[in-house]
Amino acid sequence: MKIFRFDMIDSTNKYLKEKKCIENFDCVIAKNQTAGVGRRGNTWSSSEGAALFSFALRTEGKLNFDYIKLPLIVGMATLSAIKKIEQIDLKFKWTNDIYCLDKKMCGILVEKIGEYFIIGIGINLNNEIPPELGEIATSLNKITNKKYIVEDVIFAVINEIKLYVDFFNNGNWQLILDEINQHNYLKNKEIIIEKCGKIVASGVASDINDDGQLRVLIEMEDGTSKTELFNIGEIHIKR
Ligand code: BTN
Repeated sequence: MKIFRFDMIDSTNKYLKEKKCIENFDCVIAKNQTAGVGRRGNTWSSSEGAALFSFALRTEGKLNFDYIKLPLIVGMATLSAIKKIEQIDLKFKWTNDIYCLDKKMCGILVEKIGEYFIIGIGINLNNEIPPELGEIATSLNKITNKKYIVEDVIFAVINEIKLYVDFFNNGNWQLILDEINQHNYLKNKEIIIEKCGKIVASGVASDINDDGQLRVLIEMEDGTSKTELFNIGEIHIKR
């Protein structure tokens, strides 16, 4: 495991994806990113004091076949690591955002390159939340008023992810899923699901099923309802 540290980089995910000869758990940490990448091609706004890092995870064991579950496992492990640092009420927003008091604290991007997953995580820790994001984003510092040692948090998160991945590979998906459902932010919320910029469904979110899919109860025009399962898609909560 090698650690690469940067004061400034375009994107820690991009760096690892383009690097030749990566090894399991090689890790890139940046104080700032100029072109942070979010899911579905979104940008991730970064500022100093945030935990901005990516690491490589070799596709081994059951994970070889599980590109859907891995983001969920990583999200749950990250939530668990933050909760061990501060016992605050954190929620898991499918597929893998972490929310506190209805605002996003952490985003995760899982990409695959060759035999590795590149797991990129951005946690708002000590950083200021820009005014334009004030309604939708929060930081650990905003919640607790404390300052954090960024690398301590990063290594606590990576260690927790290692534990969860081993736990998963040892056949404990059901226990992880139960924990995810206990923290399910979307449960019973009215949501809209968007795919490739188009609204494809709206309904009431339920739990996450054994395959890691979100169950959504859809009201039909004739007054009946049906349950649909979703793998990916951007979720918007009706306000
Ligand atoms: C999302 O919520 O859309 C995912 C955001 C992931 C952001 C992190 S910051 C560190 C790593 N490097 C990137 O360019 N993206 C991820």
